[in-house]
Amino acid sequence: MANSTNISSSANDTAFFGHPKGLITLFFTEMWERMSYYGMRALLVLYMSGAVTGFNPGLGFSQIDAQAIYGIYVGMVYFMCIPGGWLADNILGYQRAVMIGAVIIALGHFTLALPLTQTFFLGLTLVVLGTGLLKSNISTIVGKLYKDGDPRRTSGYTIFYMSINIGSFLGFLICSYLGEFIGWHWGFGAAGIGMLFGVIQYYYFRGLLGDAGIKPNNMPEKQRQTYIKWSRFTVIVMGIVIAAGLLGFISIDPRIFAEYFLYFLGVVAVFYFAYLLLLAGLTYQEKKNILLLMLLFVAAMFFWSGFDQSGGSLSIFARDYTDLTVFGYPIPVGWLQFANPLFVVIFAPIFAGIWTNLARMNLNPSYPLKFAIGMFFMAISFVIMIAAVELALVSAPVGMQWLIITYLIHTWGELALSPVGLAAFSEYSPKKYQGQMFGLWFLASSLGGVLAGLLGGDALVEGLESMAPVFDSMIQFYLVAGVVLVLFAVVSYYLNRNSSS
Ligand code: PHE
Repeated sequence: MANSTNISSSANDTAFFGHPKGLITLFFTEMWERMSYYGMRALLVLYMSGAVTGFNPGLGFSQIDAQAIYGIYVGMVYFMCIPGGWLADNILGYQRAVMIGAVIIALGHFTLALPLTQTFFLGLTLVVLGTGLLKSNISTIVGKLYKDGDPRRTSGYTIFYMSINIGSFLGFLICSYLGEFIGWHWGFGAAGIGMLFGVIQYYYFRGLLGDAGIKPNNMPEKQRQTYIKWSRFTVIVMGIVIAAGLLGFISIDPRIFAEYFLYFLGVVAVFYFAYLLLLAGLTYQEKKNILLLMLLFVAAMFFWSGFDQSGGSLSIFARDYTDLTVFGYPIPVGWLQFANPLFVVIFAPIFAGIWTNLARMNLNPSYPLKFAIGMFFMAISFVIMIAAVELALVSAPVGMQWLIITYLIHTWGELALSPVGLAAFSEYSPKKYQGQMFGLWFLASSLGGVLAGLLGGDALVEGLESMAPVFDSMIQFYLVAGVVLVLFAVVSYYLNRNSSS
């Protein structure tokens, strides 16, 4: 009886564009979190590779190191979503995990805002840990606002995706301007203030969430106590290792660290998929679904490795080889990255409309085909970048339209792949493992981020000269992955047709 009252109250709750009012809280928290994340990220390689003297002194790191650290950072942020998800599932509950995460992120940005270089890595570490607690758990709460079978869930996620992009737009706008034109630490501070708005907003309006995601999983209290004990132990060990690293007791070469981190993530992915296929006791059909998800996983990893060049090598291309004046006024490097969120907001409804119309004609492309479209867009975007690089070799700076078109095509790829990937993972994951399977989806972003840092370093090692060859090999990867996806789609289409006839 209590349950049925719940169902009707959730279905009747249409306070926010027809959606439950809790979505308002999540919308603005995620908006501020992404504002701080992308705003800071847009400054990261510029600050690290900036000259140590002059008006706005940077850290003077080599491009190889700056790009590697950028890759490790992006990779860590998404990798930490896995332990962050586990903690919320088993110990904290999602609402509390988001609250703690938001506070840690704000502290991280404020640490970066200190005009010191010594605290730089501490700030990054805090943002990584906080985002691990916030990012995937907040998306889980979105899903929990709706009862099973509520048809509004998908459009709830679409609204949520808008908050991500409004947030990143604000981040590029504010943090890039302050960071590049006034001083890096002002930009980092602005990210901190943005996240602080998010914290305050979440704190006061979390009541709107009701009990969505308030409790962790059911389990015997004894088991939970054991989990808590082990988590405490792990956090202490992690704290010691991080402190040793930050205090300089462990010397780390960023490039080598990034390479090993990539292998580590690869091994985690292989083991996890092997476990699902061999030991998880899945049915034949579930195993077939896992194979499909594996293919999508690899494709997503490649995709993000190109996409994340925006805050890496493409940022340097914008700074060093692009004319950044509009009507004679200089604009910050980071403003070019506006293009992505702006185009997402414009094209997301168009893409959704295209899929719906194709579905009506029974022509809706399968998941692998949509991913293949994502891969082909990524390949085309780098063909355009190669043309821009060739032109810059003859006469730099080039116009900003090159990067804007590149970001436009990235965005088309993103829309063919990112929301589609989420849908695929929620449809094809074995029910029991759904939470963890979302973790895997973030692991693909994590691998993509590290790869982006490594490729970005290779692309910049000799300035413009080394860009085209690296972009060229990336294009080949995207094309091969795209063709494999198309073949997979064709073969499974025929197999399904034969088995159903
Ligand atoms: N713009 C998206 C976001 O920040 C990109 C993304 C997709 C990141 C999927 C991680 C996973 O949320």
